[in-house]
Amino acid sequence: MHEIRDAILAGEYAALAGIVRSQGIPESYRGVVVRKDEVGMFEGLATRDKDPRKSLHVDEVPTPELGPGEALVAVMASSVNFNTVWTSIFEPVSTFGFLERYGRLNDLAKRHDQPYHVVGSDLSGVVLAVGAGVSKWKAGDVVVAHCLSVELEDPQGHDDTMMDPQQRIWGFETNFGGLAEIALVKANQLMPKPAHLTWEEAACPGLVNSTAYRQLVSKNAGAMKQGDNVLIWGASGGLGSYATQYVLNGGGTPVCVVSSPEKADICRRMGAELIIDRNAEDYRFWKDENTQDPKEWQRFGKKIRELTGGEDIDIVFEHPGRETFGASVYVTRKGGVITTCASTSGYMHQYDNRYLWMNLKRIVSSHFANYRESWEANRLIAKGRIHPTLSKAYPLEETGQAAYDVHKNLHQGKVGVLCLAPQEGLGVAPEAQEFRARHEDAINRFRDI
Ligand SMILES: NC(=O)c1ccc[n+]([C@@H]2O[C@H](COP(=O)([O-])OP(=O)(O)OC[C@H]3O[C@@H](n4cnc5c(N)ncnc54)[C@H](OP(=O)(O)O)[C@@H]3O)[C@@H](O)[C@H]2O)c1
Repeated sequence: MHEIRDAILAGEYAALAGIVRSQGIPESYRGVVVRKDEVGMFEGLATRDKDPRKSLHVDEVPTPELGPGEALVAVMASSVNFNTVWTSIFEPVSTFGFLERYGRLNDLAKRHDQPYHVVGSDLSGVVLAVGAGVSKWKAGDVVVAHCLSVELEDPQGHDDTMMDPQQRIWGFETNFGGLAEIALVKANQLMPKPAHLTWEEAACPGLVNSTAYRQLVSKNAGAMKQGDNVLIWGASGGLGSYATQYVLNGGGTPVCVVSSPEKADICRRMGAELIIDRNAEDYRFWKDENTQDPKEWQRFGKKIRELTGGEDIDIVFEHPGRETFGASVYVTRKGGVITTCASTSGYMHQYDNRYLWMNLKRIVSSHFANYRESWEANRLIAKGRIHPTLSKAYPLEETGQAAYDVHKNLHQGKVGVLCLAPQEGLGVAPEAQEFRARHEDAINRFRDI
């Protein structure tokens, strides 16, 4: 592993093929895992008290055999997504169930069904080896990976690969994820690493950037157009920090909801002007666990109209779920769209359907992104049109703390993890330094806040 890492750090990517030929792929590697025999460790605790620092371990695990159409990647950096929080607290279900089900699919998939789950759905790094039938990528290619794993043996996925019945999120519903020194991916997850970014910057957009692209921009969900007012919950968070950039980039007006003055400042730094601090306004959309308060939806709607000069919301970028969904449906304009990709605060949503049908509003579901959408989203990063929102990077050993920060909403934007990269700041291609310098301020907007 040392020789592989040294070659990468020296920028001698082409040497990797020779190292692997002469010494083989390392037989094992360090990865962040949850263990099957610990699935019940948090039983009886409230969600907020389940601590990822106790369930996420850095273990030495065997390198999986490389199958057809796959690639093994030496991972320089990765990032924490909320799905790693879900895995680490075993909610809403243990992810070992996903691995068992996948393992029953065929002999190759059986490799994923292990008593440990190497997690993580982002990476930046260098391809170590590719399996039979891979012609687009080779050892030494400098890459990032999106997290859509598909089999495409059924017809349903051939219009939009997100519709594949065997669609899975890599590192969440499959094993051998990116929070590790080596990761196993399908070759059609690979994309070129944006050359102007460091390893940790390049690793952080993948999952959330692609998700925000589909949910807002793609015809498969939001299909945002110029001039749209877009309400963005958690506008400085993982998803929201990309959604805000997409709205500004596409000629819309973001109405950003955040929970502190610091987060409001970050949104201003991205270029947003209309910002609501939900803590300062003290919205209480629920009177008690079972009863919503439409007066609070109205107060929220009034605030939005104050900011927009009387206009309502064309698209809501929804993900908090139960807590906010009733308000989201209420404030959407007649004919507008509520796009939803998650339910962080609870998945049993409640809203007043009269506001939906009488006003011809639509609720549109969105989930991750297909390869094309991920590629477009990554291309915008490479062109400096959308920027990473990394606030902090932890070493691999402290991934539990990184996931704890995200679980407790203590973070801003994205939290990175250094895997083989020994320190931050490495990996920018020499020929991209000048391009980087032009975007340095935007790239660092979220740092150390
Ligand atoms: N379907 C998919 O493909 C997909 C992809 C990515 C993520 N997700 C899901 O989307 C959710 C968000 O992910 P993320 O990466 O953006 O997480 P994140 O970095 O934690 O950001 C979410 C933000 O939402 C806001 N928020 C949280 N709870 C809220 C509540 N009860 N009411 C209002 N706002 C609330 C918070 O911002 P403020 O405190 O500033 O308001 C928080 O920073 C997670 O559940 C994740 O699993 C789904």
